[in-house]
Amino acid sequence: MDQTEQNKLKALVGQEAVKYVKDGMLLGLGTGSTVRYMVDALGKRVKDEGLNITAATTSTRTTKQAESLGIKIVSLDSLDHLDLVIDGADEISDDFQGIKGGGGALLWEKIVANTAKKYMWIVDESKLVHKLGKFPLPVEVIPFGSVHVFNRLEKMGYKPTWRMDGDKKFLTDEKNYIIDLHLGEIDKPHELYDKLIKMVGVVEVGLFLDRVNDVIVGTANGPVVKHAR
Ligand code: 5RP
Repeated sequence: MDQTEQNKLKALVGQEAVKYVKDGMLLGLGTGSTVRYMVDALGKRVKDEGLNITAATTSTRTTKQAESLGIKIVSLDSLDHLDLVIDGADEISDDFQGIKGGGGALLWEKIVANTAKKYMWIVDESKLVHKLGKFPLPVEVIPFGSVHVFNRLEKMGYKPTWRMDGDKKFLTDEKNYIIDLHLGEIDKPHELYDKLIKMVGVVEVGLFLDRVNDVIVGTANGPVVKHAR
């Protein structure tokens, strides 16, 4: 699929997702290029229909965009829960497990997802895979001692690379680093997650397991909704 086609599908699912937003909802807004389309469509509904919603976001990037469109953003901690969280994903397996964090927002994304009554992913069909792992798995680490974490990951055979931002290490909203693991295939995502999250210095891992409720997939024939759990 070429970039233009992919962007079309991203826009399609972004516009489809906001149809699930109802007046008065507490919303969680994800991060990434697909979510950008969704936030644009949400801003349009707020403007055109006077839709009254309150949202928390998963990144400063999304906060900036949403606020510029007149969407009311509050801190996650000021809300008891979120009715609906809409986010993108980098890979979704046949059994609805996911890799996220391609945009570097995995930590806030997971915290926000944990407060959701309904958790939805919006993706173009290129994100659907049989097995996870082709997309490099992001691991967020605190900067202190992170070279040692990196070296340990290398010894474990996980083929780590630093996420870069030009010639500097990429910094997350929490001022942490990201190490991407080039695994090829992940046979046992739960076991891998348990192993990685127990490493001192690791803050979060981009495996989002047993979480998503609904996935809206953009296909050439239109949006398809898949119910996971
Ligand atoms: C950001 C994410 C994004 O949701 C994921 O990378 C998908 O992004 P895009 O919609 O740009 O393909 O996890 O941390």
